[in-house]
Amino acid sequence: MANERTLVLVKPDGVRRGISGEIVARFEQRGFKLRGARLLKISRATAQKHYGEHKERPFFGELVDFITSGPVLALALEGESAIAAVRTMMGATNPVNAVPGTIRGDYALLMGENIVHGSDSKESAKRELALFFPDGLV
Ligand code: RTP
Ligand code: MG
Repeated sequence: MANERTLVLVKPDGVRRGISGEIVARFEQRGFKLRGARLLKISRATAQKHYGEHKERPFFGELVDFITSGPVLALALEGESAIAAVRTMMGATNPVNAVPGTIRGDYALLMGENIVHGSDSKESAKRELALFFPDGLV
């Protein structure tokens, strides 16, 4: 048992499709507390930092192009085992394999347009929350 904070991004495809509210509602219904929310257009420099772990991967350029293609909604969520629980709610990275009932399983079909990001470890959560909420959380 551990109370944790994690970063979620509703990616540009989710904001463009007008489903940000539904996604926030899912997390609130589950019991997570909102500790931060920001609608912003990510700079290329921030995108490269955020996805730094993937910089050698062949899809890195496309990933940066996509995440900077329009506004994202950055959320800081807090709750029991938030990092793992949010990842479970998101579903598999490739939406084709995402179980119905998960966010990707309900809203997405393409790997490159999979609606949400969630921190994948305690270290990532700390780093990513600092990147998107430099002034801290409420
Ligand atoms: P995210 O970081 O966005 O929450 O997604 P994730 O943890 O489920 O997946 P990750 O491995 O971190 O990959 C980041 C994003 O890169 C795209 N991707 N493309 N073509 C490929 O093989 C490939 N692999 C990953 C996906 O859009 C993924 O969300
Ligand atoms: Mg990831």
